[in-house]
Amino acid sequence: MTENATATDAFIETLPKCELHLHIEGTLEPELKFALAERNRLRLPHGTVEEMRAAYRFDDLTSFLASYYEGMQVLRTAADFYDLTRAYLEKAAGQGVRYAEIFFDPQAHTSRGVPFDVVIGGIRRAQLEAERTLGLPTGLIMCFLRDFQAEYAMATLLESLPYRQWIVGVGLDSDERGHPPAKFAQVFDRARREGYLITAHCDVDQQDSVEHIRQCVEDIRVDRIDHGSNVLESPELVAEVVRRGLGLTCCPISNRWVSDGTKAELIKQLLDLGVKVTVNSDDPAYFGGYVAENLVAMREAGFSPDELITLQRNAIDISWAPPEVKRDFRGRLDALVGSPAG
Ligand code: HPA
Ligand code: ZN
Repeated sequence: MTENATATDAFIETLPKCELHLHIEGTLEPELKFALAERNRLRLPHGTVEEMRAAYRFDDLTSFLASYYEGMQVLRTAADFYDLTRAYLEKAAGQGVRYAEIFFDPQAHTSRGVPFDVVIGGIRRAQLEAERTLGLPTGLIMCFLRDFQAEYAMATLLESLPYRQWIVGVGLDSDERGHPPAKFAQVFDRARREGYLITAHCDVDQQDSVEHIRQCVEDIRVDRIDHGSNVLESPELVAEVVRRGLGLTCCPISNRWVSDGTKAELIKQLLDLGVKVTVNSDDPAYFGGYVAENLVAMREAGFSPDELITLQRNAIDISWAPPEVKRDFRGRLDALVGSPAG
């Protein structure tokens, strides 16, 4: 393969994909939302799927989050969480995803009276089934909502401990303004002592993006960062991220909605600087692109096949997958590179 070759749709289709930044509640497509509303006898504010999609008009993180939290009100029972997760995993497998790490937001459900075990039980059943029937292994990451109090995050962490074997790590998401990672220092400290790996959102172009990245890298000592492309504003931080081999899970189509543009040129710079950067889908039902569409966006921005392969290699390197899953994934990438079409 040459550096200048063009990646075709067929190439992107055959590429083994690793998804590391995917909010399961953000995969709730309008069709399923209507089906779950009917099952749970709830009324939705929109009459049709088309009307609902048309109402997805976000221009920043806050406006997106309002739709995201409103949409998930239809998730009530373990069967709902199972159906949600199963639908995503089928979609992902169909796009050639070979390993996925899935975020869930337990507090977005416990805060409205849906018990923790209902949420995780439904998700877990779909994960086990997908591994068996689709050959798709997955990991689960529990996110704390940063706009809630740290005490609630700590209580959620403690509530998760009986399910410790089902959860690979913890993350931090929701509205970033005024809610720095440092607010959760004690929670992350305890999470690490309980054996969880740690990631945190440092969303694009937020008020204090660089300071939040600094706190993650230097104070919390996270294992990776979600989004985080504003690290480029600090050469010292970039150097530290490279030195530590810290991964960044970027989400180009999501970037278009919460800031301006896919930030493809920043992702390319990060790649060239040796940062373990990856491309992911974030909230595909709301932003209109799963991982394959995000890779097409990179192709359209000039990424070569080799660079798309490097994104997948980075992803499996920084993933929290078991060694046998990493070995299998790398074998598939090597086979692709070795093939005439690759
Ligand atoms: N950023 C912050 N919180 C979120 C996101 C995101 O991209 N998606 C779901 N919750
Ligand atoms: Zn996210």
